[in-house]
Amino acid sequence: MRGSVDPPALDSTARSTEVAARSPLPFVLVNLAMSADGKIATANRAVSSFGSRRDFEHLLALRATADAVMCGARTVEADAVTLGPGPARFRRLRLRRGLAEYNLRVVVSGSGTLCPAAQVFRHRFSPIIVLTTQRAGRARLRRLEALADEVKVCGESEIDFHAALRWLRRAWEVRRLLCEGGGELNWALVRAGLVQELHLTVCPYVFGGRTAPTLAEGHGFEAVDLAPCFRLVSLKRVAEEAFLVFRRARSVGRSR
Ligand SMILES: NC(=O)c1ccc[n+]([C@@H]2O[C@H](COP(=O)([O-])OP(=O)(O)OC[C@H]3O[C@@H](n4cnc5c(N)ncnc54)[C@H](OP(=O)(O)O)[C@@H]3O)[C@@H](O)[C@H]2O)c1
Repeated sequence: MRGSVDPPALDSTARSTEVAARSPLPFVLVNLAMSADGKIATANRAVSSFGSRRDFEHLLALRATADAVMCGARTVEADAVTLGPGPARFRRLRLRRGLAEYNLRVVVSGSGTLCPAAQVFRHRFSPIIVLTTQRAGRARLRRLEALADEVKVCGESEIDFHAALRWLRRAWEVRRLLCEGGGELNWALVRAGLVQELHLTVCPYVFGGRTAPTLAEGHGFEAVDLAPCFRLVSLKRVAEEAFLVFRRARSVGRSR
């Protein structure tokens, strides 16, 4: 494999600090592990955590650069995620970087039907913010308010992510937002043109399955020219995994 690489998290932090200083929106990065055939879970959703220990360290290192970590409803329900910063050494790293010791946590559910038993709600080390829509209705909103530290309605039936992210920046000072999937949430962010960086770990498995989720679900773009274009800025092999960083290209032009 070709390529020498800067540590992606640090390189990315410097860039996002620059961008965030100028923008009313947070810098958004997506981090995911995928199989060699591009799946982020098996078709039956039973397996979604398949990266190595090195990949998990990478996830924590990236969290240690972010003000907030965000996930979709189906991910926080399916996986035993806390979305927290992990062990003390990562929390010290955060403090040295001038970040809060514990990152904020953001959960997205347009319907407001989040399972209250999800792991994320059992760990109260930092505020949990739920982004939802008017679809949630009064009763669900009340239930969400009992679960989360703040519930924000952003949109009628789908989250308006431009408005939601602007609000996160203004109300919670989120400059750097790490999205950890799943595919539906990623699609909404990609479609809205909000994703600046993709951090992908390609793992040595082939899951197959036409219904297995991938990085971005939803309807998809219908032409290459409509799809956002990214530049590969970092490529690193560690044992059998490839760690890739793509950064949003400024222009839509393609080299082929
Ligand atoms: N390999 C990895 O790194 C990785 C990482 C993360 C997840 N995963 C896997 O991915 C799978 C989950 O992915 P997924 O695509 O099914 O679900 P997801 O993106 O985690 O969650 C989807 C839900 O989020 C809410 N949502 C997303 N976009 C929205 C929008 N624009 N407006 C309103 N609500 C929105 C909706 O919640 P409501 O239905 O409540 O409205 C939607 O059903 C799981 O199997 C998980 O284990 C793998």
